[in-house]
Amino acid sequence: MTNRITQLFNTTYPIVQAGMIWNSGWRLASAASNAGALGLIGAGSMYPDVLREHIQKCQKATNKPFGVNVPMLYPNIQEIMDIIVEENVKIVFTSAGNPKTWTSWLQDKGITVVHVVSSVKFALKAQEAGVDAVVAEGFEAGGHNGRDETTTLTLIPMVKEHLQIPLIAAGGIATGKAMLAAMVLGADGVQVGSRFVASEESSAHQAFKQVVVDVKEGDTQLTLKELAPVRLVKNKFYNEIQELYKTAPTPEQLKDLLGRARAKRGMFEGDLDDGELEIGQIAGLIHDIKPAAQIVADMMQEFEEAKQFVATL
Ligand SMILES: Cc1cc2nc3c(=O)[nH]c(=O)nc-3n(C[C@H](O)[C@H](O)[C@H](O)COP(=O)(O)O)c2cc1C
Repeated sequence: MTNRITQLFNTTYPIVQAGMIWNSGWRLASAASNAGALGLIGAGSMYPDVLREHIQKCQKATNKPFGVNVPMLYPNIQEIMDIIVEENVKIVFTSAGNPKTWTSWLQDKGITVVHVVSSVKFALKAQEAGVDAVVAEGFEAGGHNGRDETTTLTLIPMVKEHLQIPLIAAGGIATGKAMLAAMVLGADGVQVGSRFVASEESSAHQAFKQVVVDVKEGDTQLTLKELAPVRLVKNKFYNEIQELYKTAPTPEQLKDLLGRARAKRGMFEGDLDDGELEIGQIAGLIHDIKPAAQIVADMMQEFEEAKQFVATL
């Protein structure tokens, strides 16, 4: 399959394995890239020297294109970007920040830049900033998200109405059918997060992967909007947040409860009670842990079958 996204990234399929803190290291990224998708290393949970190691290991594990996802809210961002350039990474996905800050700096060094947004307004800002493509992420997605609660089904056609550059849909896409739906709505490709958490190569703790398999519809909620909105599994920590909300807390009180390293504790170390467990609504449809290559192959097979089904309607 050839389209604007496969051409931009030089991949076989227009599927991006999302950059995800504590989940997408070199093992997952290289496995996704070897399977014909674009694998992304999630730099958001890595110290600079750890990121360098993951990039180097990824380069050894695949000769296919891969990229790095950089949430721009960290203080050591210059160091992270310098490592990306030094290690010759060719694709960067930026998120959680202003796309103007880094886009031309990276592009001047021959790097393809994609920015993640959750609204039409920010999609247009990213386009103005000169990015090569936009990821538009609906509020059903796992991880941090926009405050406006715009769903993927509504966001993609609204962004498409205004965007000229390639568009990648994210949020709630874990199957070939959903991929086809997103592309019918105007996306050129899809970014898939939650489905790859439950992969053999994801660096998530086994206990967290099992939570993803067990989660049902209604078991996640977008919360902590006063800080940075994030979709969490309703575990003990989530219930503590809800209890605190009853007291009309200040952002500082919420910050105190959140504390440090909650995401690492939950997703990487497997503390299912006191850790932060980030996953998307579509986890309700994820029933197994399988190799990343199988995830990509199953999605593409279902995508082709869905196309044939549509022709019969
Ligand atoms: C555990 C987890 C961690 C995530 N971490 C990041 C991150 O570090 N940077 C980022 O831009 N998006 C992050 N996301 C969002 C994903 O990149 C992706 O856009 C999202 O998962 C897509 O929705 P889905 O989960 O419904 O597939 C994360 C998502 C999950 C589930």
